[in-house]
Amino acid sequence: MAAYRPPVLPPSEITPQEIWLDRRRLLAGAVAAGLVAPAIASGKALAAPLEAAKGGYDPGEPLTPQKDVTSYNNFYEFGSGKSDPARNSGDFKPEPWALEVGGLVAKPKSFDLDALRGLGLEERVYRMRCVEAWSMVIPWIGLPISALLDQVEPLASAKYVAFETVVRPEEMSGQRGAFQPLDWPYVEGLRLDEARHPLAILAMGLYGETLPNQNGAPVRLVVPWKYGFKGAKSLVKITLTEKEPPSTWNLLAPHEYGFYANVNPEVDHPRWSQASERRIGAGGFFGSDRRPTLPFNGYAEEVASLYAGMDLRAKY
Ligand code: MTE
Repeated sequence: MAAYRPPVLPPSEITPQEIWLDRRRLLAGAVAAGLVAPAIASGKALAAPLEAAKGGYDPGEPLTPQKDVTSYNNFYEFGSGKSDPARNSGDFKPEPWALEVGGLVAKPKSFDLDALRGLGLEERVYRMRCVEAWSMVIPWIGLPISALLDQVEPLASAKYVAFETVVRPEEMSGQRGAFQPLDWPYVEGLRLDEARHPLAILAMGLYGETLPNQNGAPVRLVVPWKYGFKGAKSLVKITLTEKEPPSTWNLLAPHEYGFYANVNPEVDHPRWSQASERRIGAGGFFGSDRRPTLPFNGYAEEVASLYAGMDLRAKY
């Protein structure tokens, strides 16, 4: 994965964090009053405001500034540099959209974006840990994957959930040209019980707004106790399977990236330590905020029981 290059989005295109914080206070007030938060007018927004109820799980840590969340990430369909997704995703068209859900289910179904939003969006602040040893705290808006699975009724034989992302070379410059770093589509997988865990969501927004293209518009996976590469972006297909599905980074380098990819400070990446992480946007970009990495990224109390009796060194 490529080294850090400075963000390229002009500051004028980024919603100031203070505006979002004001919105967030408003949202909290509305929820406290027993109301679902209203859509909130934005100043200069990257994407449209999105209504959501308050979902809990806030770790209570300072948020990573919105400009960092939206300008420093990986999305190889738009290039392999950290600033490429923000720079190159302007032509991508996330609407209209169809997410096909099928495989070992009683009622396969295609969901458009309204149907997904109708399953109930919540705002949840999650600590996120990238395999490259940096981390962020992001206010996502999304729906529990289990709400979607309930709609299609998985069969008893379904043991895993496979995720597949979009292939559109005409809109995604990283899918064109002579050198392609990954095979497309980008694929990921979870065990069914992991996918059904209440912390696992399909995100459709962040910072009170519709998901920007570079963060995986219009709908992407977010699993906060796993390394960030599990968070497949721009999902077009979800398939319930009996066998463990393939995952992109595991196919590329199986000795470096496992299927489980649970955040684990005790199991180093073959080329670097996973014991600590750099919190982006806190104390500057260049390493002054380094903190210990927590087992399961701090969500052990919620998720460790999913892995009872498993050797987490072998199943990394
Ligand atoms: N999804 C797709 N479709 N393509 C990608 O290249 N990169 C992954 C993941 N999802 C990727 C993807 C990796 S390596 C990371 S670290 C996260 O997205 C980073 O993005 P985020 O900070 O917006 O979560």
